[in-house]
Amino acid sequence: MQNIYLIGFMGSGKSSVGKRLAERLQKPFIDLDQFIEEKNEKSIPDIFAEGGEASFREYEAEALNSVKNKGAVIATGGGIIETTGNQAIMDNSGKIIYLHTDFDSIIERLQEDPNRPLWNQDHTKRRALFEKRLPTYKQWADVTVNTSDQAVDEIVVQVVDVIK
Ligand code: S3P
Repeated sequence: MQNIYLIGFMGSGKSSVGKRLAERLQKPFIDLDQFIEEKNEKSIPDIFAEGGEASFREYEAEALNSVKNKGAVIATGGGIIETTGNQAIMDNSGKIIYLHTDFDSIIERLQEDPNRPLWNQDHTKRRALFEKRLPTYKQWADVTVNTSDQAVDEIVVQVVDVIK
């Protein structure tokens, strides 16, 4: 059974939409960040502190590979697209839904969040990361859904509609 992968920047609603979507579709739900933390018994900030982003990306690719055949709704981390091989894994094992949120809405939603190491940097760097990733999200997506001004339930209805 195919997975449904939710991709998008930090704060785009992947986890909350994913949970609700999985209930709706009666599929298991996997939050990839939580999966990484549980499997390795380390928090994401600790993984970044110990081995930097490169080490986190290795954990992330390994985790993605181990859930590829679960037939689940999978909320990925915002940087899943930083690792080239991840696209092929997702493409070959499911549908990729990009939850697009504009940068101002992300700022409002996240504010300061110590559990997101790549958000914990100055405004210019946050924006540069967002701008850099935008084309890749679009390029990898089978479908894009705009989540900027919408409630979780409205987004779920749209996703259900586009994956029919
Ligand atoms: C990251 C996003 C985080 C988490 C890690 C790296 C990123 O997930 O995977 O902190 O590179 O954007 P969320 O998108 O769920 O915040």
